[in-house]
Amino acid sequence: MTERTKENLTLTPRLQAIADRVPQGARLADIGTDHGHLPLWLLTQNRLTCAIASDLREGPLDHARDNARFHGLTDRVSFRLASGLEGIAPDECDTISIAGMGGETIAAILEAAPWTADGKHTLLLQPMTMLSQLRQWLWAHGYCIQEETVCQEGHRYYLIWTVCGGAERQDKPLEACVLSDALLRAPGAMAYLQALYARENRALSGMEQGQNTDAAMIEAQRTVVQTISRALEGLTCQL
Ligand SMILES: C[S@@+](CC[C@H](N)C(=O)[O-])C[C@H]1O[C@@H](n2cnc3c(N)ncnc32)[C@H](O)[C@@H]1O
Repeated sequence: MTERTKENLTLTPRLQAIADRVPQGARLADIGTDHGHLPLWLLTQNRLTCAIASDLREGPLDHARDNARFHGLTDRVSFRLASGLEGIAPDECDTISIAGMGGETIAAILEAAPWTADGKHTLLLQPMTMLSQLRQWLWAHGYCIQEETVCQEGHRYYLIWTVCGGAERQDKPLEACVLSDALLRAPGAMAYLQALYARENRALSGMEQGQNTDAAMIEAQRTVVQTISRALEGLTCQL
């Protein structure tokens, strides 16, 4: 057993925004649980019927086990050492959270568990990177992004997606995946898109000034910037 001091189970705004989207009475599987704060906090609030905390690595899983022990929750959590959803059967959970990982890792985890597209599971996804690529993958594989939640911690924005399978498959070009209808409906979308516009526009300027950037890449980036700009105009008109 590793030596750790008792950790407070107060959630950061990002984890709180995810916790707020977990249905009351959920059977939750938290993938890449690390410290386990999300399932443990939800258990302390009597929000879960049962909880699985799963991680690829022993160290983070031990951290979650220690936290569960400190808070008297050991008997209420099933710990799994596994990659993605490999250690979990479809009927063990109805809600799956995958947070704090790259978009490509989240897509790989879902691809290896095609049962997540059955429409019977609520997926709460919080990608750190490759958001357009993950939206593109989800739409192409029959998942619907029902809600996007904008969360700000300091200068950094995070998006939390509520996703369900069982939708029609849609192939979209990557440039069109920089946003979604659900994002445009989200409180805080304007501030998020303004920050995204500034970042993508900087990237476009860098490409235009660069010596070796491919013309097709510049054109694709210009489309991304225009897509965000049009979305901002639309949101401004609604004010
Ligand atoms: C940055 S932490 C995020 C912890 C927590 N989910 C959060 O959002 O605060 C990422 C965790 O995901 C785990 N992880 C990375 N790839 C994984 C995979 N393929 N399957 C399961 N866990 C994975 C890592 O071991 C690490 O504990």
